[in-house]
Amino acid sequence: MSNWFEVDKAGLGKLLEKRGKAFALFELIQNAWDENTKRVNVRLEPVPGVRGFVEVYVEDDNPEGFKDLSHAFTLFAESTKKGDPEKRGRFNLGEKLVLALCERATITSTKGQVVFDKQGRRTTRQKRPAGTEFYGYMHMTRPELEEVLRQLRTIITPMGIETFVNGEQLNIPSPVQMGIKATLPTDVADEEGFLRKRVRETTIDLWMPRSWETGWLYEMGIPVVETGDKYHVNIQQKVPLNMDRDNVTPAYLQQVRTAVLNATFDLLKSEDANAPWVRNAVADKSAEAEATLKVMSLRFGDKRVIFDPSDPEANKLAVSKGYTVIHGGMLSGGEWENVKSAGAALPAGQVTPSPKPYSPDGQELNVIEEKDWTPGMRLIAEYAQDLGQELLGMRPSVLIANNITWPVGATFGPSGQLTLNLGRLGHKWFDSGIIPEVNQLLIHEFGHFYSLDHLSSEYHEALCELGARLTALALANPEFFRR
Ligand SMILES: Nc1ncnc2c1ncn2[C@@H]1O[C@H](COP(=O)(O)OP(=O)(O)OP(=O)(O)O)[C@@H](O)[C@H]1O
Ligand SMILES: [Mg+2]
Repeated sequence: MSNWFEVDKAGLGKLLEKRGKAFALFELIQNAWDENTKRVNVRLEPVPGVRGFVEVYVEDDNPEGFKDLSHAFTLFAESTKKGDPEKRGRFNLGEKLVLALCERATITSTKGQVVFDKQGRRTTRQKRPAGTEFYGYMHMTRPELEEVLRQLRTIITPMGIETFVNGEQLNIPSPVQMGIKATLPTDVADEEGFLRKRVRETTIDLWMPRSWETGWLYEMGIPVVETGDKYHVNIQQKVPLNMDRDNVTPAYLQQVRTAVLNATFDLLKSEDANAPWVRNAVADKSAEAEATLKVMSLRFGDKRVIFDPSDPEANKLAVSKGYTVIHGGMLSGGEWENVKSAGAALPAGQVTPSPKPYSPDGQELNVIEEKDWTPGMRLIAEYAQDLGQELLGMRPSVLIANNITWPVGATFGPSGQLTLNLGRLGHKWFDSGIIPEVNQLLIHEFGHFYSLDHLSSEYHEALCELGARLTALALANPEFFRR
């Protein structure tokens, strides 16, 4: 009987080539951190006289050492760590991938030693009183070594575990906020050993990337994927990872970003408001209302309204009053949902409504019947009709109303109905003959024969033309105005 699988070590090594060499060190360091370890020593030493080779040592002080030395060479054995969301290991693979990159290696621990070399694998009786040392003779060029050393400096060492690289203790970046509570998916094995997704409360630590770095996502101190976000985000439980340990799903990343935004929105600067991570978070259904409000204030200012297709003039009024008008395409679907549920912006029609001829409560016009008109009213009505004939080519019908609570002096539209409101214009306006105020009002109202929108160019053009026609009329027929 033979096993189902054989592993071609050289082939595996070639597949791993594209991942670079730093991952191997990350695998060894995280294995040491997963144990009861206080101190980890990493050494990388170019082999004197041999180009392209480096000796790698990773040593820890975990008193127990390897529980089962056969796990050093058994791919996918049941990892005891996979049921523990706060340990990094789960595949029982990492160590073997590292070995695939080595020409020869030894693992020396409390229960014995395994030697890997050209002849194959053998165990010896050599032991250490405590801790484990991994030694590997690995192909690594000078530039690869530089890259490994650079990446090792990006590690965020856990509290209570000192980690040294070539004698130098790895330092940590500056903390931003520690212990943010978040409920996130994690990978954890059930009783039968099957890895399952489970949602679990954990904590997140935020660190400020150093000046030469951008933000990364970390799993308990080991960098996983570059996010480009403002902070390094260090998740204190297993992150649902691919087998290469170098990516997460977009949905997971969005959940993390949302937790970060909810905890740090008061630290945001205006240059952050359009950052992809903020936009991603503020589109998430778990983004808090206050976070949405803050982001919208930074993006659009405190004076902002939503473009209102039902009231075109309101949008222009908003602009003229210094509001930013937010158009459909400026926010994603998720962002819109949050903006609306948080009330983070209102439609222009509610903030800067266009003047409405009829009061919102729909009050009836109190019309003054023609038989009750004063001589002044008769004169104005007749003048308005004659002027309409001259300037517009039609005689408007005139209605005089008396509504003090109606906030409008007059209305006119393409229907040709001119309504004058005594309640607003006052008796003096009607009883002083053809004063400039009368012409001013009629030009404004006659303009609406062409457009109802005060801020449209049609309306503006109409006013200019009416002014010109009125002047021409006055020059040709001054008697017209002497009433
Ligand atoms: N430094 C160490 N001290 C003690 N035990 C170790 C050490 N390194 C590895 N082991 C043991 O060897 C096993 C195999 O390690 P390996 O990295 O291959 O798998 P893993 O850590 O369980 O899972 P993953 O593939 O996700 O890393 C570990 O589960 C652990 O029990
Ligand atoms: Mg491991």
